[in-house]
Amino acid sequence: MFTERGVWLSMSTPVELLARIERGEDLDAAGLATLLSLEEGADLERLFALADGIRKRSVGEEVHLRGLIEFSNHCRKNCAYCGIRLDNRKVRRYRMEIGEIVGTAVTAAGLGYRTVVLQSGEDAYYTADRMVELIRGIKKSADLAITLSIGERPKDEYRRFFEAGADRYLLRFETSSRALYARLHPDSSYDLRMLSLARLREIGYQVGSGVMIGLPGQTIDDLAMDLMQFKELDLDMVGIGPYICHPDTPLAGSPDGTAGMTFKMLALTRIVTGDAHIPATTALATLRPDDGRERALRLGANVIMPNLTPQQYRQHYLLYPGKICLQESSDRCTECVSGRVQSVGRVVSRGYGHSLKLHG
Ligand code: SAM
Ligand code: SF4
Ligand code: FES
Repeated sequence: MFTERGVWLSMSTPVELLARIERGEDLDAAGLATLLSLEEGADLERLFALADGIRKRSVGEEVHLRGLIEFSNHCRKNCAYCGIRLDNRKVRRYRMEIGEIVGTAVTAAGLGYRTVVLQSGEDAYYTADRMVELIRGIKKSADLAITLSIGERPKDEYRRFFEAGADRYLLRFETSSRALYARLHPDSSYDLRMLSLARLREIGYQVGSGVMIGLPGQTIDDLAMDLMQFKELDLDMVGIGPYICHPDTPLAGSPDGTAGMTFKMLALTRIVTGDAHIPATTALATLRPDDGRERALRLGANVIMPNLTPQQYRQHYLLYPGKICLQESSDRCTECVSGRVQSVGRVVSRGYGHSLKLHG
């Protein structure tokens, strides 16, 4: 029997599927959908334990900290879910100057970070020339790997950033459902997103992508297909966080994604990708501030991205309400996260945390 998206309903029981994972066999979309439907209980605990075992064997006990610098909240796009979308007139917009961003990166290196993630809305102020100046400035002043998360750009710009020293690029595909993608993205297309990911890979970046969990209209089959897509794209990094409703967007009033479904997706992402880097995201920590990151680390995650954005800007980079750490300093967040890593018996890595994958 087929479901809405043409996924065969699995004829296997959860116990049979878990045994298949244990034998190292691949699951199909139907099997993944069955496991995503598990309720609390012994089978779910088994799933989490299997994911943790694979994490241990494939990426080890180290947790990589990536320092997140949200350098501009200007955006030319209107993604339906996002609090800093162009049409949200309530946002107080800011941009950090190149020197200030480089200074923040140098501070990050002083705190022990080996990677900074430069994130922003799609902001044309940062022309290719300015981005190259920024990347070179950081590379000259600090021993840091650089990850870019600045949205879609022309291919020649991706190449220039790479040649200037950027190592990695994060660009989530947000959902593998073309219909849902089209509904949520009035000024972008699923095909362009996939093309962009292929271009980044071709240029030589370590490529990260990911999805949100619990988007309005998203089904279990969609999530199963997201997992298949992670595998197909052979991603170096996979970021997964719950969708959190922002009241000043067209999706106002829709329910948030749940921590429970996010945990299942995290565990299955570890199972299908093996050695990809997987963060315990800030969105998950926002839903579960006390133990969300710790639980994520125990069922597949091996990365955390503490917020190093200067304090005066943090409150204006509100993709969703309730975001954690708006008042805390970068030192405080670093200390807090390191403590959380240790509390689950893991160690903070001192390396760059480059991709473990060798692409064929
Ligand atoms: N503008 C760049 C882009 O879209 O790739 C980078 C910044 S964008 C804010 C980073 C990510 O935030 C998006 O890929 C999306 O998954 C996530 N995001 C945006 N709004 C969200 C919301 N309401 N809840 C959870 N995550 C959200
Ligand atoms: Fe802009 Fe990124 Fe938000 Fe979309 S998700 S509106 S591109 S900041
Ligand atoms: Fe910011 Fe815990 S990560 S205070």
